[in-house]
Amino acid sequence: MTRKSQLHPVSRHGVVWLQWKLVIFLYVALSLLSLLCIHLQYYSVTMLEPLSVAGSHIHIRPRQYSGDRPKVAFLFLARRDLPLDFVWDRFFKGADQANFSVYIHSRPGFVFNEETTRSQYFYNRQLNHSIKVIWGESSMIAAERLLLAAALDDHSNQRFVLLSDSCVPLYDFGYIYRYLISSPRSFVDSFIHTKERRYSMNMSSVIPEEKWRKGSQWISVIRSHAELIVNDRIVFPVLRNSARQNLRNCIPDEHYIQTLLTMRGLESEMEPRTLTYTVWNVSGTKHEAKSWHPVTFTFGNSGPEDIQEKSINHVNYVSESRIEWCKADSKPVPCFLFARKFTKEAAMRLVSEVLIGSSKNRSLISYNRVS
Ligand SMILES: *[C@@H]1O[C@H](CO)[C@@H](O)[C@H](O)[C@H]1NC(C)=O
Ligand SMILES: *[C@@H]1O[C@H](CO)[C@@H](O)[C@H](O)[C@H]1NC(C)=O
Ligand SMILES: *[C@@H]1O[C@H](CO)[C@@H](O)[C@H](O)[C@H]1NC(C)=O
Ligand SMILES: *[C@@H]1O[C@H](CO)[C@@H](O)[C@H](O)[C@H]1NC(C)=O
Ligand SMILES: *[C@@H]1O[C@H](CO)[C@@H](O)[C@H](O)[C@H]1NC(C)=O
Repeated sequence: MTRKSQLHPVSRHGVVWLQWKLVIFLYVALSLLSLLCIHLQYYSVTMLEPLSVAGSHIHIRPRQYSGDRPKVAFLFLARRDLPLDFVWDRFFKGADQANFSVYIHSRPGFVFNEETTRSQYFYNRQLNHSIKVIWGESSMIAAERLLLAAALDDHSNQRFVLLSDSCVPLYDFGYIYRYLISSPRSFVDSFIHTKERRYSMNMSSVIPEEKWRKGSQWISVIRSHAELIVNDRIVFPVLRNSARQNLRNCIPDEHYIQTLLTMRGLESEMEPRTLTYTVWNVSGTKHEAKSWHPVTFTFGNSGPEDIQEKSINHVNYVSESRIEWCKADSKPVPCFLFARKFTKEAAMRLVSEVLIGSSKNRSLISYNRVS
């Protein structure tokens, strides 16, 4: 009792003081925390995204896939909407939902929903942190890296196909799925180009000239290569800086992935060809340099005969007068699974006349095996 009466005033005073201290402490801590949150939010919006685009903050750790349902990730690089969504809708209807995933990089703020696409496969599949892309500049490869990074989040994604908004599939889903999954290699068009001088000596400290490669940007890669591209902090900054200094003629997307994989000594894990068919038109007068442009398929030149005549099953190297037939696992296969560039009208004709994915007619083009 005495102890209690003796201690009581002191302890009571102490408790009140302690309570105040606690209140003040909590107040200060909460203020600091909310300040930190605001700062972090600001930081993540203003700092992290451009940095992650630059490659400094993306890091994907490899993980072994143990499931039995490897997915193909279809990565669409779009300017705005996907005008050929009706073709893809038909294509995906022939698929098993568990066998694929879709990601779209479009301009910031563009949302794929009932109003902007006719296909439910694209609803809400746009990246929420997309960037402004200027075609042919390094922002293009930054967008490709964002797409790969997003798709790597899903561990069942094992093949990653990059497609443009004017691409169409040439076969039904099952065929394309088996083709991609059964190849243990990436499909990356990659060759040494001696005539064109896009390589700059400024890059030589990082990129040896003998590793410099050129090729189509439309790639299909296996998971380990997708991880390597997303984690790359060496080659991407060099190409970006070089593109800034040499604005007129850089086009880093035609060099980046092929050069990176070559530098890492992965040529044996690549089929050095693209799966996306393009018809090239060489134009240019005597005074201008010759330039190559992809031919756009329009309603007039996209009938069944036109498409079949293009011999989509082999690669014709016009400049080398050489025709190459394609193989996968030493078996002859068609060289191309996709084609560009198609207008809406051309794609409509393709769907209505050439019957993509019908059970009667599995492929768009008749493929004659080559012996
Ligand atoms: C973007 O955000 C929306 C809404 O939160 C979400 O439904 C969608 O899946 C996100 N996109 C991707 C590719 O994750
Ligand atoms: C889906 O994936 C499974 C397992 O890889 C495969 O057996 C099946 O044929 C695929 N289905 C389609 C429609 O591609
Ligand atoms: C190399 O870099 C320097 C400055 O860093 C720049 O002035 C020059 O134009 C560059 N050269 C080429 C060929 O890009
Ligand atoms: C090829 O390019 C030239 C000049 O740009 C053009 O006049 C011609 O129509 C093009 N051909 C095709 C098949 O697109
Ligand atoms: C595919 O369809 C076309 C006409 O639509 C037909 O001529 C052709 O024989 C068919 N091919 C096969 C393999 O059924």
